Amino acid sequence: MRVVVEEDTEAASRWAAWQIAELVRRKPDAVLGLATGGTPIRCYGELIRLHREEGLDFSRVRTFNLDEYVGLAGDHPQSYRCFMNEHLFGQINIPLENTHVPSGTEDDYDRFCEAYEDAIRAAGGIDLQLLGIGRDGHIAFNEPGSSLASRTRLKALTQETIDDNARFFNDADQVPVLAVTMGVGTILDAAQCLLLAVGAGKASAIRMAVEGPVTSQVTASALQLHRQATVVLDEEAAAWLQRREYYDRSERARRARLSP
Ligand code: GLP
Repeated sequence: MRVVVEEDTEAASRWAAWQIAELVRRKPDAVLGLATGGTPIRCYGELIRLHREEGLDFSRVRTFNLDEYVGLAGDHPQSYRCFMNEHLFGQINIPLENTHVPSGTEDDYDRFCEAYEDAIRAAGGIDLQLLGIGRDGHIAFNEPGSSLASRTRLKALTQETIDDNARFFNDADQVPVLAVTMGVGTILDAAQCLLLAVGAGKASAIRMAVEGPVTSQVTASALQLHRQATVVLDEEAAAWLQRREYYDRSERARRARLSP
């Protein structure tokens, strides 16, 4: 697992955006796995800037989002579809039909989830999956106890996640208690995983995910089993890592090897 620590939130977010931009330049029809939450907003801001100022072209990119609240239609202001349209899709040149966010209003979720997995496979699989992390170490909505082999399915949210997400809703009672989410197995199928975490609130989760045992109690720890997983952090999110010095040394060695 590659661990990159940048000096602040801006720099970590930019670094994540540049990885995505580099892929899109190299592979204009790349398939991106995207995330929601407070964390990726700055990263998306940098992608928008690169589109506007440097002509980064998203016209052939395809995207699949990790998850959606069950019970919220795509036009609900707190839906993840709405979030993506506002913070990214509406501000770059991606055709909306190339973007996929799980639907929060299906009758038959077994069928829907299978179709979502099929659509990812039909697109050729995800080239790069962007991830955030919950305070308990979850990725997407794979709460503690989720199978590390899980696929797209419905998941009940823990009280901690409901409380954390209440800040986006007017009233805590309005936070949905169920979500449709890619599974840990779905995420691990991506060719590359990029987890972005910023702020002191994520330091404990990052410590568990990066240096703790691989366990379904901290689903982000499954990334330790991925061949190409990178965790990009700001100083605050990295603060509890025990092997920080070693990560920095590895990163310096890597950069020295790459630069002429
Ligand atoms: C939710 C989302 C996750 C996200 C997490 C953290 O649980 N399903 O994908 O990583 O929130 O969000 P934030 O970045 O707002 O801390």
